[in-house]
Amino acid sequence: LPPLRLGIAGLGTVGAGLVSLLRENGAAIADRSGRSIEVAGVSARTPGKDRGVDLAGIPWFANACDLARSDSIDVFVELIGGDEGPALQSVEVALEAGKHVVTANKALLARHGVYLAGLAEKKGLALNFEAAIAGGIPIVKGLRESLLGNSISRVYGILNGTSNYILTRMQREGLPFAEVLAEAQALGYAEADPTFDVDGQDAGHKLALLSALAFGVRPDFGAIHLEGIRGITPDDFDAAEELGYRIKLLAVAIQTENGIEARVSPTMIPKTSALAGVDGPLNSVAVEGDYSGLIILAGPGAGSRATASSVASDIIDIARGHISPPFILPVAKLRQQTRPGM
Ligand code: HSE
Repeated sequence: LPPLRLGIAGLGTVGAGLVSLLRENGAAIADRSGRSIEVAGVSARTPGKDRGVDLAGIPWFANACDLARSDSIDVFVELIGGDEGPALQSVEVALEAGKHVVTANKALLARHGVYLAGLAEKKGLALNFEAAIAGGIPIVKGLRESLLGNSISRVYGILNGTSNYILTRMQREGLPFAEVLAEAQALGYAEADPTFDVDGQDAGHKLALLSALAFGVRPDFGAIHLEGIRGITPDDFDAAEELGYRIKLLAVAIQTENGIEARVSPTMIPKTSALAGVDGPLNSVAVEGDYSGLIILAGPGAGSRATASSVASDIIDIARGHISPPFILPVAKLRQQTRPGM
C-alpha cells in the first residue's frame, strides 16, 4: 500500500507531540498498520517558532483550509482547537474534499459533532476523536468498540486534567489557586483559555461526547449542569479531609427514566474509593455496562505525549482501513437527548 499521508493543522502541545511520536515510533507503527505514515503537510499560526521537534522536509501550508483540501494528503489531523473559526471550517473543507479527519477537539465536536459526523458518514470517511476525551485513556474506542454489546447505565469520571492538578496541589500542599493554575498552563495541560478548564466547560464538552457514545444520543452540551472549582476554599478542603473525603471535579451522566441526567460539579469522594487516588493531571473514566459490569480506566488526561498517543491510534485505525460511525450509530439513528423534567 502507498503511505498514508497526513496533513497536521496546529502545532501546539499536541501537534508537536504527534510529530515527535511519529518520528520515534514510525517504523513500528508502519509494521503494525501494514502501511507507512508520512507527514505530508503542516500548518500553524506562527510557522517559524521552535517547537522542540524536527520539522525538516515537511511542506508548510499557508492555512488550515489549504492543507485540508490539498491533493497531497489523505487524512486531515485537526489540532487547532476552538469550536468555530479555522477548526470548524477546515474540518468541513477536509470532509467535503474526501479526506478522513482525526481531531482532538472536544469543543468542536460537542457543538458541531452531529453535523460533522453526517458529512463524514455520507462520504464513508472517518471522523475519529480518541484524543478528545481524557487524553491518553482509550475510552472512545472502549465505548465505540469494546463495550458495544452493553446497555450502559452510567458513565462518570474526572475529565479535566488541569482542574484535577489544581485541586490536588491545593488540597495536599495548601498552594493558592492562581499559582497552581499558572503551573498547569506551563506544563501544557490547560486549554488556550483556562477558564474552560476551571469553570467546567472542558469537562462538560467531554461529558457530552461520552454520553453520546455511551447512550447513543446526540451530544447536548447545553443540557449539562456545569459548576467549576473557583469557589472552593481551603476550609472546604479541611472539612473534606476531616470527614475522610477528597474533593474532585466529577463529571457524571446517568440514564434515568426521564432521560439523561448530566452534570459537572465539585464532589466529595470517599478517600477509599478508586477515583480519590486519581491525582495531578490524571483522569479517570468509569462506565457501568449491564454485561461488562463496572469498568474503570485511569491515566494521563492531558499533556503532549498522552494526547499524541490517542491521536496516533486514530490514524492507525485509518491506515488499517477501520472506519466506524463517529457516535456508535448512524446520525439518523442518534436519539435526541431528553432532559429530565422536560
Ligand atoms: N485542558 C484539558 C485538560 C486538556 O486539562 O484536561 C485535555 O483535554
